[in-house]
Amino acid sequence: MLLTHATLATMTSGYGLIANAAVALDGDRIAWAGPMADLPAAFGALGTHDCQGRLVTPGLIDCHTHAIHAGHRAVEFELRLQGASYAEIAQAGGGILSTVAATRAASEDQLLALALPRIDQLIASGATTIEVKSGYGLTVKDELKMLRAARRIGTQRPVTVKTTHLAAHALPPDYKGRAKAYIDEIALPSLRAAQAEGLIDAVDAFCETIAFSVSDLQPLFTEARALGLPVKLHAEQLTDQGGAAFAARHAALSADHLEFLSPEGIAAMAKAGTVAVILPGAFYTLRERQMPPIAALRSAGVPMAVATDLNPGSSPLASLTLAMNMACTLFRLTPEEALLGTTARAACALALHDRGRIAPGLRADLCIWNAEHPAELSYRIGATSLHKRIYEGRPDV
Ligand code: NIG
Ligand code: FE
Repeated sequence: MLLTHATLATMTSGYGLIANAAVALDGDRIAWAGPMADLPAAFGALGTHDCQGRLVTPGLIDCHTHAIHAGHRAVEFELRLQGASYAEIAQAGGGILSTVAATRAASEDQLLALALPRIDQLIASGATTIEVKSGYGLTVKDELKMLRAARRIGTQRPVTVKTTHLAAHALPPDYKGRAKAYIDEIALPSLRAAQAEGLIDAVDAFCETIAFSVSDLQPLFTEARALGLPVKLHAEQLTDQGGAAFAARHAALSADHLEFLSPEGIAAMAKAGTVAVILPGAFYTLRERQMPPIAALRSAGVPMAVATDLNPGSSPLASLTLAMNMACTLFRLTPEEALLGTTARAACALALHDRGRIAPGLRADLCIWNAEHPAELSYRIGATSLHKRIYEGRPDV
């Protein structure tokens, strides 16, 4: 297949813009990309799709979601509007724990069926790769149930799913005040079982006063690394717990949220090459005041990704392009950083080196947009500008 008359954003160095470009696909890989004038004759014989000047980007990557869950938390949304805080609702047994109750009551098939419409919304916003976490089961059985449902998404939809173990997300009521026992009795056994069943690609945790401390999480991250799994961490979302530096000491792929990140945390991430995953949907939903230190991350050379954090509590957001808009408007990312954040940098946050840019040999996961300039993707609010998505070399019908 040959795409012609494209405005190409290769994302190989900044936007990596090429006007009047062609992209040749060979099966599920990119064979060639460049100006139409330079197209090797051999590719001229391929079936042609004329992009008519439209913008072509890599398929978008959502590197942080909680797309598997049951129930919704619209009532908490109302409570917060009446003045309750996210942490107060969590401490009163609502928050994550209310989603835990609904998720425990659902079967694996039901969890999959509930997730697919959310996945379809992400796909409609341009996603071709989506990370999905566990973390609403909080028993060995229910964490594995979530992960099995997450793994099945990729058999139902044209999208790559990477799954993350997040048993250390919240403390269930029967472990109240016993975080270390929970890690020993639930998080570690579910991690070992999930790895033995081939259900996970990474390990995550929620490091926060309302969740787990760095010292609680030490045995979990040690075990993850011993099993050969990369780690990542929900860090410094509501308070500074030193989570980002702890994650960086374990060569974390990413530290996510980061509103309360310290200069020490930034330095540790820069040294370890840990990606900063910016989640403006949670900041917006919780009406937080403190922004992540974007300028300091930028000047320290920490790569920044942007994700939806799609979840029923702090970020009921199912559009990557809206996440990009929020990253620009709320946090002052440039539209170029925002698009890098959902392509090349998001690929790094998932250790996927075969996607996120347009170059020969990489996967043929592409988006064709009803747009002329890449900044349009961040500039429009809630628009569905996707013209066509190509996944593994095949256009969506
Ligand atoms: O990324 N911060 C912790 N975990 C999720 C929220 C999950 C929830 O509230 O259900 C997050 O924001
Ligand atoms: Fe999250």
